[in-house]
Amino acid sequence: MAGRLQDKVALITGGASGIGRASAQIFAREGAKLVLADANGDAADALAKELAGSGAEVHAAALDVRDRAAVEATVAGATERFGRLDVLVNSAGISGRHVPEGADFEEAWRLIMDVNVRGTLLASHAAVQAMAKTGSGSIVNLASIMSVVVHPPGYGLSDGFNAYNQSKGAIAQLTRDLAVNSGHPGIRVNAVCPGFVETPLTTAIWNNPNLRSAMESRHPIGRLGRPEEIASVIAFLASDEASFVTGAVWMVDGGYTAV
Ligand code: NAI
Repeated sequence: MAGRLQDKVALITGGASGIGRASAQIFAREGAKLVLADANGDAADALAKELAGSGAEVHAAALDVRDRAAVEATVAGATERFGRLDVLVNSAGISGRHVPEGADFEEAWRLIMDVNVRGTLLASHAAVQAMAKTGSGSIVNLASIMSVVVHPPGYGLSDGFNAYNQSKGAIAQLTRDLAVNSGHPGIRVNAVCPGFVETPLTTAIWNNPNLRSAMESRHPIGRLGRPEEIASVIAFLASDEASFVTGAVWMVDGGYTAV
């Protein structure tokens, strides 16, 4: 039986871990042809081999999304290899835990904005050029509940200068602007806003029992999310089933922002 993403060509940045990895697994199962691009090229390679072992067409690429030439080359490589580009998932992202110890607040801000916002911008720009050739495509960005609310006070998660929250707010607006103004109405652009999800990004939260239970209780569903629960919405938005969905910033948050 044909999958929901049968023969769609998809590029997933940050595809080696967490939500990107779970997306790659669902996309492969649904018949997509994949390019997994990640700063951790070895992990991308290992996942590509694993998925290829189950019959998927997958290529891995080491990529830093801050490097414009490399981003453009990766998109060009994907279209050369598979003939076109149908889907881009922008899942590469970092948080404060990736900031070198002792970094000045502005240095930290620049690093997080650079990966999360400029990285999403560069990959989206290159993807739109490629998708314009067919006039259709789907871009799915990783925004966050922190696009619309901020870290709750009292847990030491933000000191008010939190670039992560600001970066995710910017991604929500980038999503709407690109959906409306790219000049290619057949290229749909959406974002998902996950609540707290158990991935390597959030280890500090789910490994700390007090913080974990505090964060769990802020999700009306009573627990943190699993990567595949975000990936299944990403797969829907990438697929033709979402053909009337564009410019949307979707909560996938166990009810976090409903409170
Ligand atoms: P993760 O840390 O498990 O995976 C992120 C991947 O991005 C890693 O494989 C990493 O190597 C890659 N990456 C980092 N910097 C890169 C760069 N400069 N170029 C290319 N690849 C790079 O994180 P997770 O949780 O899967 O996060 C994915 C996205 O989802 C991020 O944008 C994150 O902000 C967002 N998100 C995650 C939430 C969570 O609770 N885990 C909640 C809301 C949003």
